Amino acid sequence: MSKPSIFTGEIKKSQPPPLVDLRNVMRYFASAVTVVTSALDSGERFGLTVSAFTSVSLNPPLVLICIRNESTATDLFKKAKRYCVNILAEDQQSIAEKFSLQGEGGRFENLDYYMGKGGSPILQGCIGYIDCKLAETIVLGDHTLFIGQALELAAEKKRPLLYIDKHYVWLDEKK
Ligand SMILES: Cc1cc2nc3c(=O)[nH]c(=O)nc-3n(C[C@H](O)[C@H](O)[C@H](O)COP(=O)(O)O)c2cc1C
Repeated sequence: MSKPSIFTGEIKKSQPPPLVDLRNVMRYFASAVTVVTSALDSGERFGLTVSAFTSVSLNPPLVLICIRNESTATDLFKKAKRYCVNILAEDQQSIAEKFSLQGEGGRFENLDYYMGKGGSPILQGCIGYIDCKLAETIVLGDHTLFIGQALELAAEKKRPLLYIDKHYVWLDEKK
């Protein structure tokens, strides 16, 4: 028997899904959750929750994040020319929530982190991180693509925090 859908408890096979816009396709695209952090030479720290993250190249090691042009992070990442992609573990939902509150200034308050060699804050307790120097930015539509070259990477096997249909979810089994 096929696995039931997490939304309806049943899989409808007879009809194609309804036509929707891009936002309403992507809401059902389950993703891992990262918090991308950076700092200016002045010491100002900033960061935001990001799910639009993917690897681009292994050699050299390049990764991509897509940030809304209007986000405060867009100008700050361009200025700082560095950032760290922190991959959140399943017990870090509160960090994801904190870093996605619009215009929230106190995101680093009471947060366990240290400053990495690359100059960006690295969060403790994550699955891992990719500390990057900015290699290229491309403005496309209402988002800016930031391509970063990895300077230092770290990871360990932990269960990830996931996001789908505006909800945080967790893996409950491994196939
Ligand atoms: C799970 C999740 C994933 C998100 N992914 C992205 C993303 O990939 N790119 C983006 O620009 N904003 C993303 N956001 C929204 C930002 O985290 C949010 O708008 C944040 O407030 C932006 O920071 P700012 O207020 O300092 O501009 C995401 C939010 C959540 C909850």
